[in-house]
Amino acid sequence: MGQDAPYRILDKLPPQREKVETLKILRETNKATAALAELKGIANTIPNQSMLVNAIVLQEAKGSSEIENIITTQDELYKALTINNSKISPEAKEVVNYRKAIFYGFDLIKKQGFFRVNDIIEIQHELIGNNAGIRSMPGTVLKNDTTDEVVYTPPQDKNEILDLLSNFIEYFNQDKNELSPLINLAILHYQFESIHPFYDGNGRTGRILNILYLILNDLIDIPILYLSSYLIENKSDYYRLLNQTNKIGEWEEWILFMLKAVETTSIQTIEKINTIRKLLDKTIEKVQADAPKIYKKELVELLFEQPYSKIEFVVNQLKVERKAASRYLKELENIGVLESQKVGRETLYINKKLIEVLKK
Ligand SMILES: Nc1ncnc2c1ncn2[C@@H]1O[C@H](COP(=O)(O)OP(=O)(O)OP(=O)(O)O)[C@@H](O)[C@H]1O
Ligand SMILES: [Mg+2]
Repeated sequence: MGQDAPYRILDKLPPQREKVETLKILRETNKATAALAELKGIANTIPNQSMLVNAIVLQEAKGSSEIENIITTQDELYKALTINNSKISPEAKEVVNYRKAIFYGFDLIKKQGFFRVNDIIEIQHELIGNNAGIRSMPGTVLKNDTTDEVVYTPPQDKNEILDLLSNFIEYFNQDKNELSPLINLAILHYQFESIHPFYDGNGRTGRILNILYLILNDLIDIPILYLSSYLIENKSDYYRLLNQTNKIGEWEEWILFMLKAVETTSIQTIEKINTIRKLLDKTIEKVQADAPKIYKKELVELLFEQPYSKIEFVVNQLKVERKAASRYLKELENIGVLESQKVGRETLYINKKLIEVLKK
């Protein structure tokens, strides 16, 4: 391919309305919007929101990183979150950084109510951990993993990239736009990936922006949609459709794909929340029945906020002495609510049933 590498000048936003608002798209928009609204409602009925957010954001981080072939186990991940300074794999560290980057963006959007190009650079920085920033050297191309064929050449000139990014961010922040925000989500994700502003981490940064865009538009209040699960499960379509959109400039299939992703993952996240809720209720009942002396609602909730717990967490959350905290955890292990695991000098107490639910 070489010099013939596909290069279409990337158009600025907005696209032509009739291309992005077809009848099929509108029909699917309605379904996806309804599913997401239901998720928002259900998430709001959960008393302890941080419980949900912690668990689901980590799954999103894990799934999104898997698209980049950063594979880690739940066990390793939770250990990375729970233990200081242990021998954590680089993969687990990357996922933990991804999670940090989402929270960083979430706090920012709540505080500011809009985004700047610099905020995107900062998110990518949190994620990748180097200071390379926006591409300034030419040579970045997108290749087909298996054939090594160049499938897309993003803009190469730094000024052009910056110009496209400011157009992107203006569209991102617009609150009065005639299109449904879910259609805009698909448009924005395509546009960001096609600008491909960084040397690395474009996919992951773009997928974080997806979640933040939904929050900015009040479609969800907290970062709980596990959207990347759909993208990893349909990775070849994800790539194929991004690619097709930049080759032929047709939006419909790509937008339908992203709407389906929102609809499907909303439904799956609702199911997951319901299952977690039931498990929480059952666990509360079990502790009340089998270990009434140590029962406290906050104690059980902690086991859902931190599926890998330790004495220190109990001390901080419940404001009790170490001795008492240790006794609580041991007692919970005795009645089969937790399982302990020694890691170095520390003992971790694992809510295995919750881990099973999260893994599914
Ligand atoms: N033809 C294409 N046009 C535009 N974007 C594409 C195309 N093919 C892939 N992409 C995007 O580029 C991303 C990969 O870019 P990059 O390696 O910089 O990101 P990453 O976060 O490191 O990787 P990954 O997205 O695989 O996790 C893909 O996830 C996808 O979002
Ligand atoms: Mg990469």
